[in-house]
Amino acid sequence: MFELQHTDHPIVQRPRITVVGVGYLGATHAVCMAKLGFDVLGVDVDEAKIAELRSGRVPFFEPGLPEQLGEMLATGRLTFTTDLDEAARFGDVHFICVGTPQAEGSDAADLTFVDAAFDALVRRIDRKALLVGKSTVPVGTAERLTRMIAGRSPIGDELELAWNPEFLREGFAVEDTLHPDRLVFGVASEWAAGQLRALYRPLLERGTPLVVTDLATAELVKVAANSFLATKISYINAMAEVCEATGADVNRLAEALAFDDRIGGRFLKPGLGFGGGCLPKDIRAFMHRADELGVGQAVEFLREVDDINTRRRVRTVDLIRESAGGDLRGARVAALGAAFKPNSDDVRDAPALDVARMLYLEGAEVRIYDPEANENAHRAYPDLEFADSMDEALQDADVVALLTEWDEFTDADPEAVGARVGARRIVDGRDALDADAYRAAGWEVRALGRPGRRARVPARS
Ligand code: UGA
Repeated sequence: MFELQHTDHPIVQRPRITVVGVGYLGATHAVCMAKLGFDVLGVDVDEAKIAELRSGRVPFFEPGLPEQLGEMLATGRLTFTTDLDEAARFGDVHFICVGTPQAEGSDAADLTFVDAAFDALVRRIDRKALLVGKSTVPVGTAERLTRMIAGRSPIGDELELAWNPEFLREGFAVEDTLHPDRLVFGVASEWAAGQLRALYRPLLERGTPLVVTDLATAELVKVAANSFLATKISYINAMAEVCEATGADVNRLAEALAFDDRIGGRFLKPGLGFGGGCLPKDIRAFMHRADELGVGQAVEFLREVDDINTRRRVRTVDLIRESAGGDLRGARVAALGAAFKPNSDDVRDAPALDVARMLYLEGAEVRIYDPEANENAHRAYPDLEFADSMDEALQDADVVALLTEWDEFTDADPEAVGARVGARRIVDGRDALDADAYRAAGWEVRALGRPGRRARVPARS
């Protein structure tokens, strides 16, 4: 354990907070810190985003967040700006929540936004303050930023850095922020730890577990957690591949495994696999960073995790092609879902959209419908065709593909769905449908990792 440095600076009991970068993570964090009673200034270089937030609109789909934003704006505790000078004057604690996407043409994380945000603040802050990184970064970034701060800050080491990773899930952002499984403080001094304790007091008083550690460990906790989750998903999807070769049922397998507390059932849901703005790019950036550190072998298994995940998409296209009679050219496919998961309009690395793209490239006439993500998906793939409703997507389809398990799709009545389509053939890419109910309504059902009607167990040689 590292030595905490002692400091004469008192802990500010009611620090004023800035949140720099008000995307998914930052907007949620700003609203939640205001909810905890702090004065919060949300900061972003994107004027349009700031204008939307100021007027009470959340620029992305997140259940519950618009209501909370409205409430917090009304209290006067939450304001927004594009002015970094104002931010530097305002804050005692500055949370940096900018994105770290995958770099163009590489597995590495692109740290341009992180570096720019720190640089801009560090040059402007002229009184004792704490900078808190929340973005997911390669281990060692905080150490590099600490050196940068020492070199560029007009107040030198009066400006401190801490790392406080965030574990929120899209779709549950507010709930996860206010009721996290744990808090992790990566700090270099007792003062920084005290500041963070004061900020999260209501959560700590409620018994939220806290791990206080050094900066590097805090950075690693986040990527290690996401890598574990990705591995768990790919593990069950690897089992799905084996099930497909034997006629076994991966859903029943997962159900049986989950009874063992050591394994547990969460994140053991087989299907099209993981996507989104976090898991895929985080495991790649982790492999890249480990290579740089000379320990690439230690996380080499993540390459396989990534490959298993990609193969599920290809396998789903195979099932859809089989359903269409072996040739996708001219086949009308209703693609249900585009978002990387339900309750989100996020299409970053979305398995659903990737499958739709592959179908299109093979000559299928794909009609996509997603309850929330049509707009983002259309922006990403302007050539693909989008329907305004589920019924419109289903109309005269030769094959239906369930690609994101929105309730609207999983709750649909097989008979009503069947009344729309040209042929009752469905591929369940999320193992989310009641296959028996569909079969009873005359559907031919194919699903990842589950036996079809004519499951075949190969004879032992
Ligand atoms: C993920 C982590 O779960 C959060 O803890 C983390 O804070 C976040 O990344 C982040 O780094 O910011 P998120 O990307 O919102 O959160 O989505 P998840 O709920 O983790 O789902 C990820 C993907 O895995 C989705 O495409 C989902 O469909 C898929 N998944 C999830 C499965 O295929 N099977 C499962 O059992 C669970």
